[in-house]
Amino acid sequence: MTDKVDIAIIGGSGIYDTNMLDRVRTVDMDTPFGKPSDSITIGEHGDRTVCFLPRHGTGHRISPSEINSRANIFALKKLGVRRIIAASAVGSLKKELAPLDIVIPDQIYDRTRSRPSTFFEDGIVAHIGFADPFCPEMSSAIADIARSGGYSVKEGGTYVCMEGPQFSTRAESRVYQALGFDIIGMTAIPEAKLAREAEICYSMIATVTDYDVWHEEDVTIEQVIGNAVKNEAAVKDIIVEAIEKISPEQHCMCRDALAGAITTAPEMIFH
Ligand code: ADE
Repeated sequence: MTDKVDIAIIGGSGIYDTNMLDRVRTVDMDTPFGKPSDSITIGEHGDRTVCFLPRHGTGHRISPSEINSRANIFALKKLGVRRIIAASAVGSLKKELAPLDIVIPDQIYDRTRSRPSTFFEDGIVAHIGFADPFCPEMSSAIADIARSGGYSVKEGGTYVCMEGPQFSTRAESRVYQALGFDIIGMTAIPEAKLAREAEICYSMIATVTDYDVWHEEDVTIEQVIGNAVKNEAAVKDIIVEAIEKISPEQHCMCRDALAGAITTAPEMIFH
């Protein structure tokens, strides 16, 4: 086993840069839930140990509904991770949120349908609090970092997580907009739920790539990838500073999410 990892970055391979890290190594892990999306890259940045996991696997071969988030989060927990920064490309549901803007969301609306989203089943029932799905402490620190870096950032906002892999219909998109949601993506659920069950802080740097289809034009994959690539440097910049500035110690409610939550069995799967 490797040294304990403080902070994990889950995202596209474009935001990972070996220059960020010293003593780089990779680990291939297996979990009771199967294998994570890919090998996990671990390295040092100053006095922090950091790891990186590409959510869709190298070469983007895992579709949103097929991501084995239970294996991903379980593997990170086994490495000792206490904080996860998730980087995601999203569509905008608000005129004022333009492509290339950055959002640090504080809420999620779950529209997924077919994803295993708990570690607790087969005779063990746990009801965790999930009213505030993102770690408020870490999200606020990341928003400050993004603002002081001069980026166009919105702190707070609701991320609607759709099943995909198709983009929304215009009717769906207009309904989400009318409901007041801010951004749309395909991956925050079940990642955020499982991180909370694992008592790991979870925050997201969402980069707006398109206006979704309420805005008349269709979403194209060229637009999504093109704008995600344009924002990679900004995301990397924010992540590096977050690694340096955010303490690996948890002072928030995330670290005690399971206290009193398991109603069936006293033993917990992680401890
Ligand atoms: N990811 C990036 N843009 C998106 C959109 N418009 N809908 C869902 N997921 C996205």
